[in-house]
Amino acid sequence: SAGVPDVSERTLIAVKPDGVQRRLVGQIIQRFEQRGFKLVGLKMLQVSEDLLSQHYCQLRQKPFYPSLLQYMTSGPVVVMVWEGLNVVQTSRAMVGHTNPAEAQAGTVRGDFSFHVSRNVVHASDSLEGAQREIQLWFQGNELLNWVCCDQTSTY
Ligand code: PPS
Repeated sequence: SAGVPDVSERTLIAVKPDGVQRRLVGQIIQRFEQRGFKLVGLKMLQVSEDLLSQHYCQLRQKPFYPSLLQYMTSGPVVVMVWEGLNVVQTSRAMVGHTNPAEAQAGTVRGDFSFHVSRNVVHASDSLEGAQREIQLWFQGNELLNWVCCDQTSTY
């Protein structure tokens, strides 16, 4: 109801193949845990072109689309669902500008990358986008409604 913050907001974060190859998975997870968000889903997979074509359905006409597919299928990704107040917007800030050359230090991309074709992570860009992507990447029973020990005092 009005005035009650939506602490159950969720977003999809993926460590892309370059992030896995470079052993950045732990550091990326740590940033989200440290910020106070709750991990409710996590898996590692070799992504199919079919899943990617749905995930990036708005980009099919872009000139970089073929190389994006090649990049994203070059190795396993680690995909996660994180939950918390304003998690979509806050995650975008934590991940930094899409083009790492413009990403601020302190963001994932600003600290770990320098080129848009190897930008280490994906983060949903809106609430609607997050809902669509979470449904695409996860089955309902892969998302867990567990209670954090500090959940009642956090918000
Ligand atoms: S656009 O053109 O504004 O719609 O694209 P943008 O929002 O900047 O980026 C959308 C996703 O495409 C990825 N991207 C690229 N990948 C590989 N190579 C190049 N040159 C490139 N340019 C953009 C970008 O990282 C976004 O993917 P996600 O997974 O959302 O970060």
